[in-house]
Amino acid sequence: MQPRLFIVAIMAVMANEVLCKGERKARHMMDRPLTENRLDAVSYPLCSAGGSQGACLFGVECQLQGGRFAGYCGGSDRVCCMVDKTCWATTSAHSVTFQNPSFPKPNEEAVLCPLTVELGRAVCAVRVDLNVLELAQYEDGVCIRDTLTLLGSTEGIATPVCGNMTGYSTTFLVKELGKVTVSLVAQSTHRFSITVTQLGCAAIPKFISPTYSGVRNEDAVLYNPPPEPAVDKPTIILRNDSKTNETETTTFNPVVRDDEGEGGPTTTAPRADEGKKDDDEGEVQTTLLRGKYPSGTTTPAPGVIIGHFPDGSEGNEDEEENIFTDTLDVTPAVSGFKRDSCRSFKKGIDALRVSLGDHDLKTKNETFNVVSRVKRVIWHLHYSPHINVNDIAIFELSEPVTFNYSISAVKLPLDTEDEFHEVNATVTGWGRYSLTTKKTSPYLKEYTGPIQDAGECAKAWKNAKVTAYTDKHICLGIDKGTPCHGDSGGPLVACNFNSCTQVGVVSFGFPLCTNVGLPAVFTRLTYYRPWLDSNMASLSAIPV
Ligand SMILES: *[C@@H]1O[C@H](CO)[C@@H](O)[C@H](O)[C@H]1NC(C)=O
Ligand SMILES: *[C@@H]1O[C@H](CO)[C@@H](O)[C@H](O)[C@H]1NC(C)=O
Ligand SMILES: *[C@@H]1O[C@H](CO)[C@@H](O)[C@H](O)[C@H]1NC(C)=O
Ligand SMILES: *[C@@H]1O[C@H](CO)[C@@H](O)[C@H](O)[C@H]1NC(C)=O
Ligand SMILES: *[C@@H]1O[C@H](CO)[C@@H](O)[C@H](O)[C@H]1NC(C)=O
Ligand SMILES: *[C@@H]1O[C@H](CO)[C@@H](O)[C@H](O)[C@H]1NC(C)=O
Repeated sequence: MQPRLFIVAIMAVMANEVLCKGERKARHMMDRPLTENRLDAVSYPLCSAGGSQGACLFGVECQLQGGRFAGYCGGSDRVCCMVDKTCWATTSAHSVTFQNPSFPKPNEEAVLCPLTVELGRAVCAVRVDLNVLELAQYEDGVCIRDTLTLLGSTEGIATPVCGNMTGYSTTFLVKELGKVTVSLVAQSTHRFSITVTQLGCAAIPKFISPTYSGVRNEDAVLYNPPPEPAVDKPTIILRNDSKTNETETTTFNPVVRDDEGEGGPTTTAPRADEGKKDDDEGEVQTTLLRGKYPSGTTTPAPGVIIGHFPDGSEGNEDEEENIFTDTLDVTPAVSGFKRDSCRSFKKGIDALRVSLGDHDLKTKNETFNVVSRVKRVIWHLHYSPHINVNDIAIFELSEPVTFNYSISAVKLPLDTEDEFHEVNATVTGWGRYSLTTKKTSPYLKEYTGPIQDAGECAKAWKNAKVTAYTDKHICLGIDKGTPCHGDSGGPLVACNFNSCTQVGVVSFGFPLCTNVGLPAVFTRLTYYRPWLDSNMASLSAIPV
């Protein structure tokens, strides 16, 4: 990877020298000390008009920012100021839209095209919305020809992106009065419209899970999948029907952190396939997960699902048909698989579907389920498969979701100090049974195990020459089962009596999905609370 990235850097310099002479002159004319015009981001609400975003400023301020009038802000004497910029501009605008010169038409020529945004006082973060980004595709999971790189994050080096990332967004932390550069390098046809918005520290509220979220599925019932011809398919251990009453309390094992509490009966059953090489799925249990929810409760805004970076799932235009695909998306750094060249980037966000309330992906309506499109994918600017961290993303759904018996929300951890040490947690997913089985499960599988000591987990993986971080990762003992290929992005949930909290997102594990003494590794949600907060902060814009 390194040499390739190096080549990109050199070409960027060449593009600068050869192709941008004219533009550089223009840039010099625009170079002026903007610092004194920087605005306190907190005091300027956003506005929206004609699908674009602006900031509510006084007319004079708008003029200074080189903006255009797009209406008045809700009866005030401020104007909705839209600032449009293209290559080589510098601006201190609160909200600026950066586009290729011929937008909405593409530009054909090779360019190095940066935008610099000078940040105001009390600015804590910058949000970047890729309204349109059409660059050359990833090749072997790396951006070789074109790149978009966001510079100026206080959290380290940003991973360059490319492909069709129309509809993606990210928010990252910045230094107040610092600057952010959006650096775009394209070698052929490209098109983009990117909105950069400065976020005041006060604009980032702490996300608190609604009180009705995380309610445990007390009255879950067994699901009996229809019989199907078993060809090259491992046994699925079903819970004994006559134990239904017990199951009701053990769909998720209650997690008891104080010594006095009752642990609740376990869901463990002996493995039927002990010793069989091909059937390393461990303990696979199929349970219809149901929840008690105030019927008709609706998410306040389009719902969010926390998942991983979508890198291997092939979507399709057909609604429900293709949710179930044989994915190979285990953690790249650890698995023996080559990272797929990001098929979802090729097809774009329109190809993504989220199925809610489903259990058996092959049977259409055995549960009440809803299939939703994705309005926005929020990616982590510092995600990198090479260092195994920041493996997290948020999907914003196109429509609000109506909660129901089979569709409900989980809690996010509130106490960031909570390590969930030694509590039992449950991971679920439709991934493969084993590496050799090559088939993902049509039924939702679950596995419950103990959260492991972070230091021991890091040590175990260090022996395997892979870095697991004690702060950014949370590990699960995989005695009798494990997440496997295709389970990536799935939730790890810990329940305390009746209250369930998502503590992790499936990230990586031993690629053969067998127990060789290596715990399964998840993105630790407590660590990413600040990231979640800043990335879920909604930008409420006054319509003009
Ligand atoms: C289910 O459990 C009952 C009693 O607990 C037992 O009699 C029966 O044999 C079990 N069935 C299977 C298939 O294990
Ligand atoms: C299951 O629970 C219900 C009500 O809680 C009870 O009436 C029934 O007898 C129980 N069944 C068994 C097999 O224990
Ligand atoms: C976790 O589950 C195991 C097996 O079901 C059980 O023995 C143990 O007591 C549970 N631990 C906690 C902390 O609940
Ligand atoms: C809730 O789910 C049931 C099926 O379980 C369905 O018939 C009903 O329409 C759903 N209610 C709402 C409000 O979506
Ligand atoms: C990029 O993705 C968007 C959203 O999925 C789609 O509407 C658009 O057609 C795609 N553009 C190209 C060039 O494929
Ligand atoms: C599933 O839907 C089909 C067609 O919509 C209907 O005929 C069938 O009865 C439904 N099955 C169940 C279990 O609701």
